[in-house]
Amino acid sequence: MRRERIVLLIVLVLICSAAVIFSGTESHSQEKKSAENTVSCITAKCHADINKVKYVHGPVGEGACDKCHGEAKGHIENPKKFKFKAIEDISKACYSCHDNFKTKKFIHSPVEEGECTSCHNPHGSDYKFQMVSKGGEVCFECHDDEIIKGKWVHGPAAVGGCIACHEPHVSDYEKNLRAKGSELCYMCHTDKAESIQQAAFVHKPVSEDCASCHNPHSAAKEFMLEAGAPELCVGCHEDIKNQLSNVSVKHGAIDRDKSCLNCHDAHMSQIAKNLKMEPMDLCLSCHNQEYKREKGESVANITKWLAENTDHHGPIKQKDCSGCHNPHGSNSFRILRNDYPPTFYKPFAVENYNLCFGCHEKTIALNPDTTKLTNFRNGSQNLHFLHVNKAIKGRTCRACHETHASNFPKHIRESVPFGVWDLPVNYEKTESGGSCAPGCHKIKQYDRVKKVTNE
Ligand code: HEC
Ligand code: HEC
Ligand code: HEC
Ligand code: HEC
Ligand code: HEC
Ligand code: HEC
Ligand code: HEC
Ligand code: HEC
Ligand code: HEC
Ligand code: HEC
Ligand code: HEC
Ligand code: HEC
Ligand code: HEC
Repeated sequence: MRRERIVLLIVLVLICSAAVIFSGTESHSQEKKSAENTVSCITAKCHADINKVKYVHGPVGEGACDKCHGEAKGHIENPKKFKFKAIEDISKACYSCHDNFKTKKFIHSPVEEGECTSCHNPHGSDYKFQMVSKGGEVCFECHDDEIIKGKWVHGPAAVGGCIACHEPHVSDYEKNLRAKGSELCYMCHTDKAESIQQAAFVHKPVSEDCASCHNPHSAAKEFMLEAGAPELCVGCHEDIKNQLSNVSVKHGAIDRDKSCLNCHDAHMSQIAKNLKMEPMDLCLSCHNQEYKREKGESVANITKWLAENTDHHGPIKQKDCSGCHNPHGSNSFRILRNDYPPTFYKPFAVENYNLCFGCHEKTIALNPDTTKLTNFRNGSQNLHFLHVNKAIKGRTCRACHETHASNFPKHIRESVPFGVWDLPVNYEKTESGGSCAPGCHKIKQYDRVKKVTNE
């Protein structure tokens, strides 16, 4: 009975072939031939379920089993005849209808090896593109699913949307990515792309590769970061790392809350150095309060001081707190960029005042006599020299000057802390000199034009 049917089939095929040669259209031939195979291969008894799936592969739907398995002849006697001899034969079969993929620089290993069927069922499946399983499961047949086991998982990776970022077959980019560097992320994060493109300053790794900070799959920290600030930052910024481990005074802002991100934006800014605000506004956004300390001096409210003392020191007028303070830390008290004595008295050495002399002439404290180096003189006697330049009990600048702002001329202080006492300065300025009646001595006057003789 069966043999008869096969004989009949062969006859029919021969007739059809003849018809094709006659008509000269190949596609017509395929259709007919397929129709015949449907009859032969998919029956109630044989391969009945092969097309009972949601996505049936084109040639299977048409019953063109022979396109891959070859001529049906002899199959019943020897079912093994239909097995592919080598894996290469499978991909060769696929490429006989589909374009050869291997035209790009990066070829996914199973594609290179011709293992099409590790991902696609050659007949059909319940998943689009006849995938052997759903979404990321296909990939995890071969790849470790550790990559999505971090605490914070990226949306598309979590739901198996691997191919949103990776080409399954071949790609122009490493790791079979669909785009290079940050462009990959911009495919979906269009709002970030827009704000970054509009920013005046973009952090270099952000314009190069988002994945240098974010794990594209999952990671231990929020936003799929491998580490938070400061570790994340100093991983690249070795110089800052060294600086912070060497300084004796670290800025309190580094150890609090968001650390580096208190001041810097991780991605971009309209302000240089990726600052979150204009530099002085940034400092005053925190120093608009007093920080009380258990031990040592508290940290005064600078906003309040600047509001109450209206003659601001030059660099503050220029809104440059960093001219004197290193925002990260330093080896001088109060995170000062350079040497400056923290005390009322200090034996004189010019280096003690590197901070001030970074911007002002050091000669004001070096020459005992002058007619031009400083206005703080009595006749030609240099009173800066007199007070400051002493082997013992040299007065430091702070004895007379405020560094941030004052209500007295030349940033002279109203008073200066002297132990527990707020020592008053009582400075008065005149046309060609001035006077003071500090807690240190009786009232003394100076005049540049007509030298005054004080008692
Ligand atoms: C696109 C190529 C292709 C077409 C078309 C095709 N097959 Fe297959 N078939 C394969 C491949 C590849 C294998 C797996 C061979 C291997 O792994 O050794 C296979 C395996 C089989 C097997 C072995 C059992 C299994 O499922 O793995 C049967 C049975 C089979 N095919 C029947 C059919 C029938 C019936 C048709 C037509 C309705 C058909 N095939 C059409 C490629 C195809
Ligand atoms: C006889 C020709 C032929 C062979 C051989 C063949 N295919 Fe196909 N394939 C088709 C046709 C026809 C379609 C349906 C195309 C369509 O619907 O646009 C198709 C569709 C597909 C699709 C789904 C594409 C889509 O857009 O839905 C995949 C995946 C696929 N084939 C993989 C393979 C693999 C893997 C092999 C080798 C095992 C293979 N094909 C061998 C003809 C073939
Ligand atoms: C690592 C898994 C994997 C392997 C291996 C693989 N594919 Fe695919 N293939 C896919 C996925 C996933 C899609 C769906 C692609 C998409 O949505 O862009 C696809 C889509 C296709 C399509 C339809 C869309 C298109 O890009 O033309 C064809 C045809 C196809 N594959 C053929 C093959 C052939 C032929 C091989 C072997 C040389 C192969 N695939 C190997 C995963 C794979
Ligand atoms: C049949 C096994 C297999 C499957 C299935 C598979 N891969 Fe691969 N994949 C490999 C092998 C093997 C390599 C090469 C590994 C290597 O070089 O370390 C690789 C490499 C990769 C690479 C790195 C490429 C590179 O240049 O280093 C990526 C990305 C990748 N696969 C993604 C996927 C995705 C996404 C899927 C699911 C769509 C997938 N793979 C499915 C076997 C597979
Ligand atoms: C948002 C885009 C994106 C998604 C979604 C995504 N990947 Fe990746 N994948 C990448 C990028 C980017 C790299 C390169 C990372 C690098 O170079 O550090 C990568 C690398 C890989 C690698 C190579 C591993 C390595 O460390 O070199 C594999 C394997 C991989 N991905 C598999 C997957 C699988 C499986 C999925 C789905 C669960 C997936 N990817 C989802 C973007 C993505
Ligand atoms: C295929 C689209 C797609 C691509 C490509 C993509 N993402 Fe995403 N990403 C998402 C989705 C969807 C979410 C979840 C959105 C949400 O929760 O608001 C997300 C969330 C994120 C989050 C967390 C945001 C939050 O507020 O919690 C970060 C960080 C992120 N992605 C970074 C990246 C990086 C870096 C890349 C490139 C390596 C990238 N994404 C590529 C789709 C994508
Ligand atoms: C230098 C490291 C670094 C790079 C590079 C980087 N990010 Fe981020 N990203 C972070 C940090 C840190 C956070 C957390 C922000 C915070 O806490 O203020 C973050 C947060 C995010 C968020 C969620 C919060 C938000 O700002 O919307 C998204 C989305 C994001 N990044 C996308 C990207 C994209 C896209 C790129 C590439 C264009 C990228 N990132 C490059 C460090 C980085
Ligand atoms: C993947 C390495 C990397 C990471 C992580 C990183 N940076 Fe950067 N950063 C750079 C590079 C590269 C530059 C550019 C340096 C240059 O041009 O000299 C830079 C520049 C900067 C600049 C100076 C910008 C300018 O305009 O001069 C600041 C500020 C900065 N980073 C802060 C941070 C902070 C804060 C973090 C942590 C959230 C961080 N960086 C994490 C690599 C990194
Ligand atoms: C209190 C605010 C603040 C904090 C906290 C802070 N920075 Fe800065 N950072 C600044 C300011 C202000 C500048 C600009 C200094 C200048 O112009 O001299 C700067 C400059 C930089 C630069 C540019 C190079 C340089 O020295 O000029 C890098 C890199 C940098 N910071 C990294 C970091 C890292 C990493 C952290 C965390 C460990 C951090 N910053 C914490 C305020 C801060
Ligand atoms: C995010 C908040 C924040 C910002 C912004 C900030 N600081 Fe601070 N600052 C602190 C904290 C907290 C302390 C430590 C207070 C304490 O010790 O209790 C501190 C301490 C100081 C000290 C005293 C240092 C010491 O140890 O004696 C100075 C000086 C200082 N900051 C200057 C600045 C300058 C200049 C800027 C701007 C570049 C700035 N700060 C920005 C929070 C901030
Ligand atoms: C001309 C240099 C200079 C500039 C500019 C400067 N500072 Fe200072 N700052 C100092 C010196 C010196 C001290 C130590 C004063 C002392 O102890 O007498 C100090 C002390 C401080 C302190 C500790 C306050 C306290 O309790 O004694 C803070 C906070 C501070 N500065 C913040 C700022 C901020 C904010 C700015 C910008 C608005 C700024 N500084 C600009 C030199 C400067
Ligand atoms: C970053 C540079 C810079 C540093 C550091 C600096 N100053 Fe000044 N100072 C200036 C500028 C600029 C002016 C304004 C000069 C002008 O208006 O002609 C000024 C003005 C003064 C004046 C008033 C001069 C006048 O003629 O009105 C005094 C007093 C003064 N500074 C004292 C100091 C002391 C004390 C220090 C050290 C604690 C110091 N400065 C550190 C830049 C600096
Ligand atoms: C004993 C008090 C006193 C001490 C200590 C003192 N100054 Fe002065 N300084 C003055 C007075 C008073 C003036 C105003 C002179 C005038 O214009 O009549 C002045 C003026 C200045 C000026 C304006 C330019 C000038 O010389 O006329 C600068 C700059 C200055 N001092 C810097 C310093 C520095 C830096 C130190 C520490 C090394 C210091 N002063 C220490 C009292 C002092």
